[in-house]
Amino acid sequence: MTDDRLIVALDLPNALDGLKLAEQIGDAASFYKIGLGMLTGGGLALANELKSEYGKRIFLDMKLFDIPATVEAAVRGIAQFDLDLLTVHGDPYVVRAAKQGAAGSSLRILAVTILTSLDRADLDEALIRDGTVPDLVIDRAARAMEAGADGVICSPQEAAMIRALPEAAGKLIVTPGVRPAGTDKGDQKRIATPAQAISDGADHIVVGRPVWRAENPRAAAQAIQSEIATAWQLNSGFARS
Ligand code: C5P
Repeated sequence: MTDDRLIVALDLPNALDGLKLAEQIGDAASFYKIGLGMLTGGGLALANELKSEYGKRIFLDMKLFDIPATVEAAVRGIAQFDLDLLTVHGDPYVVRAAKQGAAGSSLRILAVTILTSLDRADLDEALIRDGTVPDLVIDRAARAMEAGADGVICSPQEAAMIRALPEAAGKLIVTPGVRPAGTDKGDQKRIATPAQAISDGADHIVVGRPVWRAENPRAAAQAIQSEIATAWQLNSGFARS
């Protein structure tokens, strides 16, 4: 079976294009992320089709944030479908509500710490307390996992620090902002290569444009898979020695 540490972000405008891309990639990827941009274009139907017809794993990136009763109800609805990962904002009350909604299903809840597009000036404007962004990310990750999150989504540059937290034992770390060497950074600022992200403790890496914008998306996905496999072998080597 294809390694599921690579999650390909299907950031295409509609489900039909998403399905075509997944078919083109074929067995070079077994895990797909579907986000808000696609959800209004048939994304949930595509998620179900990729899961049930093609046997793929699915990460729904909805970043839910609302009062507890609404979060719980929304997650309970999503948990009826046999999907794998769902994001919510990492505020402990949101995480607890999401976990209640997911109870009895295999849906795992990932907490968003601080959006990677935000800097300290944005946090000041939103009246978020003092502290550097990395420090706040680490604190929010610890609290979200303590509240029951199955893992967190964070920049690869924060992965090692989060992996070292006692609260992170047995939890998932999922990192977007991953760029194979030589590919375009796009608007991502705090990036790392697939190998670096895996070495720093990421369980899954999310890669979008370097795959779906590539001339040959299947070959791009295969190249990332090889890089992950090599990084993993090196890490296991370190672990044994
Ligand atoms: O194209 P690219 O590889 O930058 O895509 C990364 C994907 O991960 C996008 O779907 C983006 O919305 C998502 N994401 C992110 N940063 C976060 C959370 C999600 O880039 N903090």
